[in-house]
Amino acid sequence: MIALHGVTVAVPALTPPGTKTLLDGVSIDLAEHRIALIGANGSGKSTLLRLLNGLIVPTQGRVDVEGHDTRRDAAAVRRLVGFTFTDPLSQLVLPTPLDDVELSLRSRVRDREARQAQARAWLARYGLADVAERSIYDLSGGERQLAALVSVLAVQPSVLVCDEPTTLLDLRNRNLVAQVLADLPHQVIIATHDLELAAQSERVIVIDAGRVVADGDPETAIAAYRALLA
Ligand SMILES: Nc1ncnc2c1ncn2[C@@H]1O[C@H](COP(=O)(O)OP(=O)(O)OP(=O)(O)O)[C@@H](O)[C@H]1O
Ligand SMILES: [Mg+2]
Repeated sequence: MIALHGVTVAVPALTPPGTKTLLDGVSIDLAEHRIALIGANGSGKSTLLRLLNGLIVPTQGRVDVEGHDTRRDAAAVRRLVGFTFTDPLSQLVLPTPLDDVELSLRSRVRDREARQAQARAWLARYGLADVAERSIYDLSGGERQLAALVSVLAVQPSVLVCDEPTTLLDLRNRNLVAQVLADLPHQVIIATHDLELAAQSERVIVIDAGRVVADGDPETAIAAYRALLA
């Protein structure tokens, strides 16, 4: 389980008081299998997600991932928590999906041929066999999003954190990615503006100005978010 204990994230600011608070004393346990964070632009969703795999560490307080403090045990946390960015191109660093998935498998599979075979199998499992060796720039948005997801899944994390996984996609690819996420055995924690996607979670957390302002079943939390923005 992931737990946030009194987490504040603050960054230097040019205007008084000299700091800007992005998250303000957030304490929550993230135990449910499917959790969605919703909230206005700039409310702090991505900041909260980045804390979960140690991409950033709290200014105050701490984040524990299955007992590992993200500040002290970053390597263990990165293995446990996979992270996908909204734009898959900020994540796919190598020329083709095959290269990228092979890179994910490097520490686990030492033999080069075996590693390539496993990478192909991972891509095939998600319908990407035909584009395995295509340039990532020649993939459709949906294929790219899936390729980024597969390269994270190949590390075999126990939790998957996705920042707006459907934002850049058309309806067909949005539905495809939503279904892939729904079918995963992993715990999945997402931030999204796609309220239909959020509604499929067990728990929805509403963030506003760096604080949790509603937290519960999707219907209640989404209603609170609508009221907040009204
Ligand atoms: N490194 C940083 N330095 C300064 N300000 C930052 C930094 N990172 C984020 N912010 C600011 O913190 C606030 C929260 O940002 P965050 O990206 O967490 O919001 P968000 O809820 O994900 O928004 P969106 O829905 O637009 O993605 C924003 O005002 C943003 O400009
Ligand atoms: Mg964001």
